Amino acid sequence: MSLWGGRFQGTSDADAWKLNASIDFDQRLAKQDVAGSIAWAQQLHEIGILNVSEFKDLLSGLTQILNEFENLTFQYQPGDEDIHSAVERRLYEIIGSTAGKLHTGRSRNDQVSTDFRLWLLESIPILIDAIRQFQSQLVKRAEQDINVVMPSYTHLQRAQPVLLSHWWLSFFWPLERDVQRLLFTLKECGIMPLGSGAAAGTGFPVDRNELANQLGFIGISQNSMDAVSDRDFAAQFLFDAAMCGIHLSKLAEQVVMFTSAEFGFFALDDAFSTGSSLMPQKKNPDVFELTRGKAGNLLGLLTGLMSTLKGLPSTYDKDLQEDKQAVFQAYDILMAVLPVLSKAIPSLKIFPEKLRAAIDPSVFATDLADLLVKAGIPFREAHTLIGNAVKMSLESGRGIHQLTRTEWKKLIPDIEVDFSNVFSPEASISTRCVVGGTAPQVVVEQISTARRCLQVI
Ligand code: ARG
Repeated sequence: MSLWGGRFQGTSDADAWKLNASIDFDQRLAKQDVAGSIAWAQQLHEIGILNVSEFKDLLSGLTQILNEFENLTFQYQPGDEDIHSAVERRLYEIIGSTAGKLHTGRSRNDQVSTDFRLWLLESIPILIDAIRQFQSQLVKRAEQDINVVMPSYTHLQRAQPVLLSHWWLSFFWPLERDVQRLLFTLKECGIMPLGSGAAAGTGFPVDRNELANQLGFIGISQNSMDAVSDRDFAAQFLFDAAMCGIHLSKLAEQVVMFTSAEFGFFALDDAFSTGSSLMPQKKNPDVFELTRGKAGNLLGLLTGLMSTLKGLPSTYDKDLQEDKQAVFQAYDILMAVLPVLSKAIPSLKIFPEKLRAAIDPSVFATDLADLLVKAGIPFREAHTLIGNAVKMSLESGRGIHQLTRTEWKKLIPDIEVDFSNVFSPEASISTRCVVGGTAPQVVVEQISTARRCLQVI
């Protein structure tokens, strides 16, 4: 049953119909569509379009449809163009011609955006929960690995010693920002477009605020033309998802590196690694590679929708139908990746000695310069002096820690500095005790702050 057959003669071309139909993917809006229709019917009753018995019929028909969706017994028909037509078709089958009153004053244009927003209102908290689960695993790792030291890297070159806990938590905060962004998007989704009609606003005096209340929205749109075309919330969601994917990909990439023989910092648990069909010795980090790869996909979904939105004429254009697959796919990707990471990260075996061994003495160069600064030498000069020491050690094929007293005296004739306590990761780390630094006592505070974030939602 088509919702728009009146002015047409003959039937649609089968391939054109297939292209036009969205039922394959907008079925995911089934429950939201029924909820929207129940609230709409209520309004139609309140303004006298539906008498009590018609309203009751609609209500019982829609409730039955909802049950069918919930019990997975709803039968889709080949003629169902989209979820809205499917529900209306079924309503006719159940209650007869009264079903024809439901769409009074409503358009699929305001309906679909309402359904879609409702879906996100339900789904974003589930996604946030999955991110939160993963964040809490990162915090647990940080607690567990509090005594493990490692080099930090800049430009992927060894930089300064840090706690492994600090490194774990460096992935917590980006995810925290993702959560905050999603909460903002959730707010945007809370604006109800229903009542905007096709483009100009509904011609029936429904109470939009009451509708919004009933459906769980926090506000109503102020311009019908904007409301039926607005997909900012979907684009925002895709940005949030892409950003989250990018954050996860950065962690994943480093797990891939750190589990390689070249680094040897971590080992993968068998449950989260895969073998090779040809090379019997292989143990591959597929889970992390896929996490990295899927970030590209997420970015593509965002770019795709943004491109679709660009330059669209006012109000509803069929291009907008493309919004749903992108959002569903992005949601599915993250909901597939996050729970696996939540198990794979705790299962990683850590090799503290390997991590410590990677802190070669050159990473203490900043600490050496800082010591000179404390002895009154301007930092720029100290930087050059220690740079010269690095050069001297490289030229003589030794580590900077192996320079003799006499050599140091030659390098820095003016003052006597005792460098002997510098070459310890723990000593270096303990000096970085500003908020946000890697000293153990501030990392412990960081863990508490992170835990408090997790309690907020
Ligand atoms: N399936 C459509 C979509 O997802 C519903 C809205 C159709 N509106 C229209 N004027 N044809 O966007």
